[in-house]
Amino acid sequence: MAAHWHILGAGSIGCLWAAHLAKAGHQVTLILRSPERLDTFNAKGAVVLESEDTHHYYPVDACLPDNCGPISNLLITTKAYDTLPALEPVASQIRQDACVVVMQNGMGAQQEAATRLAPINVWAASTTDGAWLKAPFHVVFAGSGETKAGPLSQATTALPAIPPELTPSDLTLVADEQIELSLWRKLAINCAINPLTAFYDCRNGELTEDPEKFQHMSRVCAEIDQLCQQLNLQLFDGPAIQQAESVARATGANFSSMLQDVRHQRKTELDYITGYLLQKAKQAGLTLPENQKLYEHLKETTK
Ligand SMILES: NC(=O)c1ccc[n+]([C@@H]2O[C@H](COP(=O)([O-])OP(=O)(O)OC[C@H]3O[C@@H](n4cnc5c(N)ncnc54)[C@H](OP(=O)(O)O)[C@@H]3O)[C@@H](O)[C@H]2O)c1
Repeated sequence: MAAHWHILGAGSIGCLWAAHLAKAGHQVTLILRSPERLDTFNAKGAVVLESEDTHHYYPVDACLPDNCGPISNLLITTKAYDTLPALEPVASQIRQDACVVVMQNGMGAQQEAATRLAPINVWAASTTDGAWLKAPFHVVFAGSGETKAGPLSQATTALPAIPPELTPSDLTLVADEQIELSLWRKLAINCAINPLTAFYDCRNGELTEDPEKFQHMSRVCAEIDQLCQQLNLQLFDGPAIQQAESVARATGANFSSMLQDVRHQRKTELDYITGYLLQKAKQAGLTLPENQKLYEHLKETTK
């Protein structure tokens, strides 16, 4: 069944999904932050999806935040720290029976969105797809992964219209009833890898190859295990360092998104990664000195 999806956050992931939703026959409207962005989009009138040297144009609509409703299905793909400010001008136009999906790294912003929008159903999604913008609204699909999505709030309706209609050969979408656990797993790995690659200015793989860096990652992971034990969260079969090491090796040649943000002097999602971990630790009466030091160092030296 075709649906109408509004997309808030027309960057890499937002354009990737805009293109695939349009390709699957859905109506898509991008919510853009300013008249200037709308002019830039209107000059093109489409999202361009580049994948393995092919280019496809998907004509979609665009609007400004104060004039975009009524919204029945909303996909939020801003960076975590932009979620609430981006949502605010749009919130009153979201139907009470709408489906809202927050697709982001980190934790905290999804829950803030669910609290802000209650009792509207809010879903969270976590993706390992890779995408980057070659130009505004021109997205390069750089690596095919998997997206898990599941309800954060007490969902009374099923997630409408995403799964079967979305071309499975291009984007893999898996329903996940324990999405919070999946978000925690991703958070743990992000806490282990991203801040350290930013700290050492290195590729993911170097964290496993250099003994000093590996020891540092082990200390960070031991504190993650300590917190998870206190919160009664079983994320992995073994200790977090095993999982972090295997991910760092598998993505060895990559520069983490946090390191890329630091290098380009962009704001990082640190507050929703290590910052969230420290907040949960504080609530549980724990201190995590290695993670705290890393957080404070990166707060001082980056945006
Ligand atoms: N890219 C990837 O490969 C990838 C993979 C896995 C997970 N993720 C996660 O997915 C999330 C999105 O990442 P991304 O790479 O797609 O980021 P991005 O390219 O920076 O896109 C974010 C978009 O949000 C828009 N935005 C911010 N505030 C807004 C507002 N008030 N109103 C309307 N639009 C607003 C920005 O608009 P402007 O252009 O106007 O600033 C930007 O286009 C992040 O949490 C990231 O960690 C990304």
